[in-house]
Amino acid sequence: MEHAVNPLQTRLGKLTLHNPVTVASGTFDLENLEFFKQELLGAFVCKTITREAKVGNPPPRLFETEAGLINSIGLQNPGLDAFIAVNLPILRSHLTVPLIVSFSGNSIAEFGEILQRLEAEEGIAGYELNVSCPNVENEGIAFGVHPETVQCLCESVAKRTNRELTVKLSPNVTDIATIAKAAENGGATSLSLINTIWGMAIDWRNGNSMIKKGIGGYSGIGIKPLALALTYKVANTVKLPIIAMGGIYSWQDALEFLWAGASMIALGSANFIDPLVVPKVHEGLHQYMIENKLSLQDVVGKCVV
Ligand SMILES: Cc1cc2nc3c(=O)[nH]c(=O)nc-3n(C[C@H](O)[C@H](O)[C@H](O)COP(=O)(O)O)c2cc1C
Repeated sequence: MEHAVNPLQTRLGKLTLHNPVTVASGTFDLENLEFFKQELLGAFVCKTITREAKVGNPPPRLFETEAGLINSIGLQNPGLDAFIAVNLPILRSHLTVPLIVSFSGNSIAEFGEILQRLEAEEGIAGYELNVSCPNVENEGIAFGVHPETVQCLCESVAKRTNRELTVKLSPNVTDIATIAKAAENGGATSLSLINTIWGMAIDWRNGNSMIKKGIGGYSGIGIKPLALALTYKVANTVKLPIIAMGGIYSWQDALEFLWAGASMIALGSANFIDPLVVPKVHEGLHQYMIENKLSLQDVVGKCVV
């Protein structure tokens, strides 16, 4: 096809972004931007915030397996007040790329309260709802498990914002496509997937769990085939654009997710291994598009099965 001016331009719901590379919540902060120009990111996603500050889980809470990481950070964050008073002004003054704020609540009402406070703030392009947390109104079962709850949550948030509304799906469910459909029906404008899957590591010498809480969230290279399959499945179920993540370490990995149907890709665990992974993935994708005279639209969802 005719060569586009910017072959990497992409759309994420309400946003037009100059490239499809972003970062996964909780794995990247402003200090990572000391290593490269932030314009190499299409958007910046911050760590999940909650209404109350959280100190997180006791250590050890991060373990490197033979194929990826297990973490049990426990959503450590300064809480909404401090985020608005301290973190957000810093993010606003440093970022030139769109900011997507990830947040989570214990109930639909709490998600609503957080949203209302953030809506009053400038410099936020969109929200990522982290629905992997326990719902206190439903016996502490994670929000992201029930299609009806996800739909209600999205309805309640969507009617109160004009900003981009992404729902981050958990793979720890029976059928992720049903949850994705519920988010779409509820008014989400994009989806991001996948959050971590359950994982555990034990020291074979003495039986000690490598993570203080026992079970944690598994991410990185080992989850790539699952993340790719779920991206493909969701892309073939809903019309919403997808930010895909899960074991993307290289531009070739990123391309696989774009072929599978993602409009954006996020780098997560890879940032811990190589602080230059963002510029490398950006450069690789750009070169591939130029050399093959393609633009992103020629690739997204065009996987041959
Ligand atoms: C140390 C660590 C902290 C994370 N914190 C969050 C978080 O606060 N909110 C969230 O939605 N996901 C969080 N995640 C999940 C990632 O955003 C991502 O969905 C997951 O790691 C899969 O991508 P990856 O395989 O590229 O790491 C975290 C992951 C890691 C490794």
